[in-house]
Amino acid sequence: MTKRIGLLTAGGDSPGLNAVLRGIGKAALECFGMEVIGFRDGFRGLMEDRTMELDEETLSGILTVGGTILGTSRDKPHRMPVGGRVLDMTDQIVNNYQKHDLNVLVCLGGGGTQKNAYRLMQKGLNIMTLPKTIDNDVAMTDISFGFDTALTIATEAIDRLHSTAHSHHRIIVVETMGHKAGWLALGAGLAGGADVILIPEIPYDVRKVSEAILGRSRVGKPFSIVAVAEGAMPKSGTEVLSQGNKHRPLSKAAQKRSLDQGTEMGAMQVGHAMRLARQLETLTGLESRVTILGYLQRGGTPSAGDRLLATRLGTACAALIRDGIYGVMVAARGEGTEPVPLEEVVGKKKTVPRNHTWIQSARLVGTALGD
Ligand code: F6P
Repeated sequence: MTKRIGLLTAGGDSPGLNAVLRGIGKAALECFGMEVIGFRDGFRGLMEDRTMELDEETLSGILTVGGTILGTSRDKPHRMPVGGRVLDMTDQIVNNYQKHDLNVLVCLGGGGTQKNAYRLMQKGLNIMTLPKTIDNDVAMTDISFGFDTALTIATEAIDRLHSTAHSHHRIIVVETMGHKAGWLALGAGLAGGADVILIPEIPYDVRKVSEAILGRSRVGKPFSIVAVAEGAMPKSGTEVLSQGNKHRPLSKAAQKRSLDQGTEMGAMQVGHAMRLARQLETLTGLESRVTILGYLQRGGTPSAGDRLLATRLGTACAALIRDGIYGVMVAARGEGTEPVPLEEVVGKKKTVPRNHTWIQSARLVGTALGD
């Protein structure tokens, strides 16, 4: 009997989503003789029964395209805004799964999507997931697709910020995404040679950060790049208030310039990066600026590394479906892939271990981590 696969992409978009859809779809259609149907805008499209035919033509030419041809949303099956109310639409989703005679539903997404997919599995559906996120915080996989591209973009940004920080003798605080994990800030900071890297896993003391910056000034380097993860936090009780201090806080114009570079998310986060920059100005006497990288890190064409990863994971997913293996996330493991039972994935977050080699290397090249 011909197997029918349903595909959806959920959560924040990420480079590599289309490459995965193509990997699953091409292998399923052309090698394993299966049928594939897409649902638009994540779990919402499945609930509303909005579909997209995924044939050889649709799947062609999308390997290099950013975003997701299916569209995405952060809607959850069990808490879906419908007609001004938030309702549990799980039964409707189960009905549509059955209506389309699916053998399996494949959900591409991050930590939240893994959880939502698992809930559907508990309702009796055959489910597969794939780890997508630029934050790289999905548990039980070596890496998630999207991360490599975002890492490259953030590194390039830090490279460019160096020359302007150097020319103006300024501190530039550059904020990366990453939610509650520091992979992006740490990776891009290390690859881009940031002088200070602040991540959620290592609460920072702003005085230690300013000491590191002043130390650089003393040896003739009166400029610094501070890479800060959006989730980084000061150690409690270590914040320094600028009011009443002899150095001026960031000027209104400087704040506006910094804000203009951000996005909606950047604007929400800007308070933290801005406060940090102001404190560093106060403590060091150096002029400071803020750059929020925001959605730039998520948009555009996937890197070669993400295309390879996405194709590896997508084709492995199709092969597992052929073999009748369900209820797993297709994880990246070394050079290969591994099916990991969904219950081992959900509810966990992969943060940066304190003894990670990137942290050790950062310390050994003299990067301050604020601790
Ligand atoms: O989860 C990925 C991510 O990019 C996070 O790093 C960030 O906090 C979040 O999405 C913001 O996305 P949105 O504004 O789309 O909710």
